[in-house]
Order: sequence, then structure tokens, then C-alpha cells
Amino acid sequence: MRIVKLAVAAVLAASLFTSVAASAEEIVIKFSHVTGGKTHPKALAAEEFAKRVNAQMAGRVRVEVYPGGSLFNDDDLLIELIKGKSVQMGSPSLSKFEALTKKFRIFDLPFLFDDINAVNRFQMSEKGQELLGSMKKKGILGLTFWHNGMKQMSANKALVSPSDAKGLKFRVQQSDVLVAQMEALGATAQKLAFKEVYGALQTGVVDAQENTWSNIFSKKFFEVQDGVTETNHGIIDYAVIVSRRFWEGLPTDIRTDLERIMAEVTADRNKLSYELNQASKANIIKAGGVVRTLSASQRADWVKTMKPVWAQFEGDIGADMIAAAQASN
Ligand code: LMR
Repeated sequence: MRIVKLAVAAVLAASLFTSVAASAEEIVIKFSHVTGGKTHPKALAAEEFAKRVNAQMAGRVRVEVYPGGSLFNDDDLLIELIKGKSVQMGSPSLSKFEALTKKFRIFDLPFLFDDINAVNRFQMSEKGQELLGSMKKKGILGLTFWHNGMKQMSANKALVSPSDAKGLKFRVQQSDVLVAQMEALGATAQKLAFKEVYGALQTGVVDAQENTWSNIFSKKFFEVQDGVTETNHGIIDYAVIVSRRFWEGLPTDIRTDLERIMAEVTADRNKLSYELNQASKANIIKAGGVVRTLSASQRADWVKTMKPVWAQFEGDIGADMIAAAQASN
């Protein structure tokens, strides 16, 4: 994380306010993300965005999608977007913005949102939309939010009570809230890139992880875990972000068309994320993976153990933001 912060500072100083010259040539937008598969909400949304732009803006703009971390992992993506040369757009999980803003920490507070509809209501509210601009000074603009879904826990042993997680090492995304959340369970946390998770679980570098059904299925994490417990304790959602240097150098009509297509794709694809995750859950079971559900009182134990983490981050996030998020439930 320190390395990312230093790199961010360095490229900021070098390149933030240099403008991109507009030209009559076709504009290429490289869109980088780390997921993949035929049933993944983000992979499908990115493909749909490219398909519509490439059809509706043919000859003016072409979007090339690089899934599965084939161009950059999410840490490197942030640095490269600030530079605005090798990649123009991406959609990292909201848990990966620590180096740029502490405001997104709200999305990692455990048991804050009841479901993805509540997340949607919050993101569409004035306070939610405000968050998209929180990295502007750092050279990145948020265009919209895309949904994945609710997170579940998996481990190399059965997780039913929070005490089952004691002493385990969990892989987490680049978020201090997620580290604190695992510590509240008496576990430890290791931040790892998405690409490394399967191998780390397989070789025992880590014992456990948290993720959505679609990520657990598409990356086959269930194959190297004892089972997945349906905790719905948090969310993985995305900010579609663009290099400010690139975006502000675009002709206004191009920007307007891209914004319209992005809004249309967001509305269409976000509606499908819940079903795609449920399909991934069914696919895990079909493939022989173990899925455990919790009774209301078992789930209440997880809430009681993890929710105190909120107090540690209220200062960075703002009590008003937390209240607005709660009101969306
Ligand atoms: C992860 O690293 O687990 C997720 O952020 C991957 C993703 O983009 O959904």
C-alpha cells in the first residue's frame, strides 16, 4: 500500500494537469478489470459497454476490454489511470481505493447494507453520487457504480460461529476496514491481488477468504476451501473510473455520448447482478461445492462480533454518510 501511495504521489506531480490533444482519429479506450467468465456481472457490463460504444460511436471511439487482470492488476491500474496514457478506464472494487480516498471505506463496513438494492439506493442518492468525485484532485474521475453483490465467507474448515474464524488467516482486498473486520473475529488478514487468491488458498498461504458468489464461482475458490458460508456480511461493488487527464481532453460531444451509454449500460446491467450471483451460487452447489447457511441467531453472533469495527472508521467516513447508508436499508 505504501508503494502505491508513493507511486500515486509521484505520477500526480508529473502529469495531472497536462491536457490531451483532441484529434479527428478514432479514440481508443482501454478498459482494464480483473474478473472474467460468461456469468460475471462486471465482466458482462464491461463487454456490454464496449459493444454499445463500438456500435454507436463507430469511427469516433473504440473500447477495448482487458479482463482477468490481463492488462493491469487493480493497484497498478490506479497508478496508470492517473498517468492517463497506457489505460483510460477501469472498474476496481470499491475496497481498493485506500491510496486515493478514505471515503470509500463506507462500502466495507460489515453488515451496513441489507442487500444490493439498499446499496443501489445509497449510491444513487446525493451523498452516494458525491463519492464519485472524491478522487478528482488525485487525477481520477468516477463515472458510475456497477454492482457485483453480497460477500460470503469461505475457509479450509467449516465456518458457522464467529469463533470458528479465530486464528485463521484471511485473504482480503486492499482495505484497512477489511483487515480490522478480520481482526475483530480474532483472525489475521493478508492483502493480496485477486489473481493470487486461488493459489494462496491452495498452498495454504492463507486459510480463508471473503467474496461474492460470482467471484467464488468464476475463480473456483470453492474447490480449495472446505465450504462457503452464506453470511451476506458485506458487499463487493465497483466504481467505473476514468483518467481525468484523458477525460477532460475529450471533445464535449464524445464525452456526452459516452456518459449516456454508460448510464444506459449501468441501468440495464445493475438489474441483473443479483440473479447472476444466485446462478453462481447454484453452479457452486452443482459442481460439488459445500454451501452453509446460518440461522437468524447464528448470523446475529457474526453481526455482534464484526459490527464494532464501524467505530474505528467513523472519523474517516463521516457519521452523516453512515446515517445516509443506513437510511437506504
Ligand atoms: C477481489 O479482489 O476479490 C475483487 O475485488 C475482484 C473483483 O473485481 O470483483
